[in-house]
Amino acid sequence: MDIARCHFVSFAGPSLEPPMQYSPLALACVMPLLSTLAMADVTLQPKAGAPLEGLSLSQMEAFTIGSLSYQTPLTIATGLGPAFNKGGCMSCHANPLGGWGAIAVTRFGMDEKGEFVDIPELGGSLLQAEAISQACREVIPPEATVTATRITNSSLAFGMIEAIPDASISTNEDPTDSNLDGISGRVHWVLPLEATAGSPLRAGRFGWKAQVATVLTFSGDASRNEMGLTNRLVPTETAPNGDELLLSQCDSVADPEDFADVNGKHFIDRVTDFQRYLGPPPQTPKSGMSGESVFNAAGCASCHIASWTTANSKGLESALRNKTIRPYSDFLLHDMGTLGDGVQQGDATEQEFRTPTLWNLRSRDPMLHNGTAAGGLFADRVSSAILAHGPFGEGAASAAAFEALSASDKSSLITFLDSLGRAEFDFDGDGVRDLEDFTLLRSYAGTSTNPNLPGAVGDVDQNGIVNAIDAMAFVGAIENFEDPTRDCNSNGIADLVDIFNGTMPDADGDGRGDNCPTPCVGDFNSDGTVDASDLATLLNAWGTAGGDLNADATTDAADLAVLLNGWGSCT
Ligand code: HEC
Ligand code: HEC
Repeated sequence: MDIARCHFVSFAGPSLEPPMQYSPLALACVMPLLSTLAMADVTLQPKAGAPLEGLSLSQMEAFTIGSLSYQTPLTIATGLGPAFNKGGCMSCHANPLGGWGAIAVTRFGMDEKGEFVDIPELGGSLLQAEAISQACREVIPPEATVTATRITNSSLAFGMIEAIPDASISTNEDPTDSNLDGISGRVHWVLPLEATAGSPLRAGRFGWKAQVATVLTFSGDASRNEMGLTNRLVPTETAPNGDELLLSQCDSVADPEDFADVNGKHFIDRVTDFQRYLGPPPQTPKSGMSGESVFNAAGCASCHIASWTTANSKGLESALRNKTIRPYSDFLLHDMGTLGDGVQQGDATEQEFRTPTLWNLRSRDPMLHNGTAAGGLFADRVSSAILAHGPFGEGAASAAAFEALSASDKSSLITFLDSLGRAEFDFDGDGVRDLEDFTLLRSYAGTSTNPNLPGAVGDVDQNGIVNAIDAMAFVGAIENFEDPTRDCNSNGIADLVDIFNGTMPDADGDGRGDNCPTPCVGDFNSDGTVDASDLATLLNAWGTAGGDLNADATTDAADLAVLLNGWGSCT
């Protein structure tokens, strides 16, 4: 039978108790739907910034404590400065927490005949633009002839990226361009700070120049260089513009400043836990967009490799082991020609950059290492980032291929890039699944769709039709809505699904059936009246979730207003 006719039919999940009355059409619809549901993947992808799925209780606890450390600004007493850029990781990695941000840092050095020369004796190469006292502030010294801007990168799902085997990354290397495709990526081999002497080098993957291989190394490095927190991996302070005397005058806290808490974990371990247990951002639709074929045909996937599998090694947490992820990067260094920043970092040359991940691209602003693709619409920003791949360097052919695309191919490529980071049902793209998205979901009810059409954002199981199964998944996902599972007609089906199916009128689009009674909001003791005793309940719950009437998980003046609004007898 044609399942497309079934969006009119109320559908209850398999867990509901009989009796339920179905018409013959309904039954004919429900049976295949039930078996589809058993097979369909209606689990929603976590939103960007959520923890990994499948963490154990103690790992979840490590994620939460780590997240607090990540969000706690240092003070002078706890190790801030003397020279620093910001007081906490979250000051830069803000979108979402642990993600990327608009804040840039500056690197400087000298140019000698086209070669970058680092000048640590003058405070290079990272500028610490702030200090705990004016005297200890760093400036870009007059000797510096090269300065470079670096935008904040994301740390989402870094446990997963860390768990990609070195050998998988090096498989894609082609340093001599033996296949003559103009692309010659190479691994940046580096030694982690925590590695013991004589350990093998590891494939770098973090940082704009793939200068770091492990999350812990980045935590140690960033804690000292961005915040001034000396730690067991980087135990000495950086002297402002290399001036050791100034350092001794400004710095009163003994090094290393980072110390173990009662559980034996240092700050750098805590923030490492947080970043390692951050989950990957969503991608909606998950696959099948024609824009991805354009992406592949334009050569983008030669560097922005979609899919990776993490190591299947026993030492890894099960939430990280043998998992497939879609970061869209090869983690290799490429000569980007004029896009280079003139800074040599480790073995990465002045022109080289590591291919950045593209997951969660839709929320990235600004783009590119120097932030020059910024503002405007997503399409403008992303086009300007792509065009900057040429005309010189390994990205040149891709930039030219992009320029030569037909208008419709260009637009489908951009639509595909815009799916990277989109959560299911977030039709309006504001990051929240709310009533506005429900209105849009309803507008696609029963329509057939495919990954290239806007309705695909609501076709969670990607079966080609936006139907009751999708609506049920939406009920479990809607935010800022007072009672998603409300069933005012007691038919065993959430009213939102009835409304979606067209079996319950909702002319004003408030997500509550027109014939359903207005709930008695604020009638805590269910005596049919909102009165002084309910007010007392609300005041007692002030600041907790106990008297929450507007679904924001706290009780405050807004809830008081709701209660007073409904004062009196409920009819
Ligand atoms: C002043 C802003 C700032 C602060 C504070 C900061 N970061 Fe960063 N972070 C950056 C920038 C800029 C980059 C890109 C650096 C580069 O590669 O040149 C970055 C990159 C990273 C990366 C690598 C991402 C990638 O793959 O490119 C990690 C991991 C990281 N930071 C962790 C941290 C942690 C942990 C903290 C707190 C201890 C922290 N950062 C504090 C600005 C900041
Ligand atoms: C030769 C390897 C290579 C190819 C081919 C390539 N890229 Fe890139 N891409 C990079 C590198 C390296 C950067 C970082 C450049 C920088 O920031 O200076 C980058 C940056 C980007 C960015 C900005 C990301 C960010 O986080 O700031 C986007 C978007 C992007 N590429 C999309 C594409 C698309 C679309 C194509 C195909 C038309 C493409 N790239 C082809 C290597 C490549």
